Amino acid sequence: MDLINETRLWKTINDLASITIENQPWTRRSFTAKYNEGREWLKNQMKDIGLEVEVDEASNVTGRLIGTEPNLPPIVIGSHTDTVPDGGRFDGIAGVLAGLEIVRALTENNISIRHTIEIVDFTAEEPSEYGLSTVGSRAWTGNLSEEMLAYTNSDGQSLSEAITYAGGDPAHIKQCKRENGSIALYLELHIEQGPVLLRRNAKIGVVTGIVGIQRYKVIVDGLPNHSGTTPMEMRNDALTAASEMILALENVANKEYEQPVVGTVGVIHNFPNASNVVPGKVEFAVEIRSISDGVIDAVGTEFLSQVKNIASKRDMKVITENVSRSAPIVVSNEIKQLLTKSCSSITNKVIELPSGAGHDANQMSLLGPVGMIFIPCKDGRSHCPEEWAEKEDLYLGTKVLLNAVLAFSK
Ligand code: GLV
Ligand code: MN
Ligand code: MN
Repeated sequence: MDLINETRLWKTINDLASITIENQPWTRRSFTAKYNEGREWLKNQMKDIGLEVEVDEASNVTGRLIGTEPNLPPIVIGSHTDTVPDGGRFDGIAGVLAGLEIVRALTENNISIRHTIEIVDFTAEEPSEYGLSTVGSRAWTGNLSEEMLAYTNSDGQSLSEAITYAGGDPAHIKQCKRENGSIALYLELHIEQGPVLLRRNAKIGVVTGIVGIQRYKVIVDGLPNHSGTTPMEMRNDALTAASEMILALENVANKEYEQPVVGTVGVIHNFPNASNVVPGKVEFAVEIRSISDGVIDAVGTEFLSQVKNIASKRDMKVITENVSRSAPIVVSNEIKQLLTKSCSSITNKVIELPSGAGHDANQMSLLGPVGMIFIPCKDGRSHCPEEWAEKEDLYLGTKVLLNAVLAFSK
């Protein structure tokens, strides 16, 4: 019997995707009015099918379908509804709405399962304006510290204030912390965000592990001065120093390691940012990702040492701050097998692959077993306006996820 409604799934994905900043599709940044609007829409969808809806202290939105054995820990199906700038047509919402479709399929067909199912829209999975990602799932694992809640955006507003704006209660954040063993299984469907499935002509990817991410903030303090009157040899230019540091990251990450690693600077603020002023201060965000903790450490240590050398050579003050770290995870054989078997009645075009993107699953692995499946995305592109997934692939992926829920809860 075909329980998943392909047309309805596609419609809900398009409905939520279209809650975007109008002249900047597909943007719904965390802690904005659009984000709150999208989440109101989601809560109404959840209520319409009779789910218990909860907004917790971290402003995570959960819809709960109570199982026939309510004392069992829940199966959690989640992802996120916030987006990077321009690029969130499918990234995140596909996973949340696949979960919603699964619950719709179960309820309308009067299929009860033993476990309670929780559909979760985790708060701010993408790096927020406060420098932190996976904010909501961190709160569940106790990895959202007071120090992190005090991180500020460029307007000086704190993450704590932002969570309050999103409906949370950060003063009592500890109340939403869950313990190891408190979930039976965490499942997430996501677009691959890369080209591997397409290249290997696969329809479903069973994720074998997820990279860890180390993020730093680097603040380079030079001396602002008149760009016309300050001779080249008398400058303390923070931007040229920062440029050398960014190239150093590229060089270090380009070396050979026992596992692949990537290093990126995706945010840079130059002060005062005027064409006739020698830059006096630069702040930039660094991230390093690998499936190996050791490789992340090796690259991080070498990068920080080069930053120090460059600053000292240029007679410049530099501060480096450790913003966040998430550990890489490995998916267990048992869960990979569960997901692979769940594909068998649907497609044989199944491969295993690791994830270079971070996900809420990294945090959730601290609470219980996790599994992820990927579906293809057009040209392997994501985090950009062209991000696209086919209706049929979303449907197939959701069917696999439903099979996994039914098999697990048997
Ligand atoms: C999430 O999209 C990430 O990998 O940063
Ligand atoms: Mn993303
Ligand atoms: Mn995502």
